[in-house]
Amino acid sequence: MIEHAVNWNRKIDHFTETFWEQNNRQNWIDTEFVPSDDIKVWKKMDKALQEAYAFALAGLTFLDTIQANVGMSQLAIHIKELKRKSVAGFMAMMEHMHAKSYSTIFTTLITDGSYIDWLLEDWVKNHPLLQKKARIIQKIYLRIKTDEDLWLAMVASVFLESYLFYSGFFLPLFLAGGGIDGQAMLTNSAEIINLILRDEAVHGSFIGLLAQELFESFDEDVQSRLKKTMYALLEELHEIEMAYTEEIYGELGLAYEVKAYVRYNANRAMQNLGFDDYFPEEHINVIVMNATSKIAEFITHDFFSQKGVYKKANVQPITKADFDRVNERLKLRRM
Ligand SMILES: [Fe+2]
Ligand SMILES: [Fe+2]
Repeated sequence: MIEHAVNWNRKIDHFTETFWEQNNRQNWIDTEFVPSDDIKVWKKMDKALQEAYAFALAGLTFLDTIQANVGMSQLAIHIKELKRKSVAGFMAMMEHMHAKSYSTIFTTLITDGSYIDWLLEDWVKNHPLLQKKARIIQKIYLRIKTDEDLWLAMVASVFLESYLFYSGFFLPLFLAGGGIDGQAMLTNSAEIINLILRDEAVHGSFIGLLAQELFESFDEDVQSRLKKTMYALLEELHEIEMAYTEEIYGELGLAYEVKAYVRYNANRAMQNLGFDDYFPEEHINVIVMNATSKIAEFITHDFFSQKGVYKKANVQPITKADFDRVNERLKLRRM
């Protein structure tokens, strides 16, 4: 029950307003980025590559649909502080934009509408691994009663946004970066993926910070129990991710590299939640790594950490010049 009006006059912490502003500055709409220039390249791509691309994007659409309708919406309902609810509400709206934007790519590239319908409805609905992943995550989102449940839902959200998306993001980033024969492919579509990646970096940071704060409020016994639950969830999801990656990328001979990239992002999710890396450091495909670090790492590590968002003892005031600097870089569509 909400008992008083949201009061933006009251400062509640050192990061919520930063995230509100940054989310707003990054705001975008899919129809401004119709990837028509990719049609020529798409038509020349071989069938296996087209299919892997379509499957990767259909899987991403499903995850964003869940995040829009269930994940971020449930978090917005259960987060207690009103300004933070506003940030989560804004992010939930962007999840709908993300989910829709893949369709903008599909309808631009694929002329057979019935294939798109089949992909997003039948293929997704009947895919055992996607369905298993979706059930695990949604169950956690839909049973929030206590603060411990809320923390676990935040963990699930950070896993989804900072980790589970990346098996899908790999292919568009790899193709646009010239991964195949050094030729940049589907670069317009990759611009949309970059915008989504940029948003997810901010979302994962924000929810991660809320999770860290909540975790600190629990006593040690609760913390160690919750940590066990989190690692069990990570293991369970990871098994699914590895099998899913094999299925989508096996034929292209990319599964090994995608798996390493997925584990790298699992570590980034753990960092967002305030924990140490879970997987050992390993070599990541340079093309995909460059694309990721220019956006996701820039946002989470360079921008927010420089602003003291992660270091409570070292809070610096955020000035207009800081925002100008970050947004100047963000304006470059393919950073
Ligand atoms: Fe999203
Ligand atoms: Fe998100």
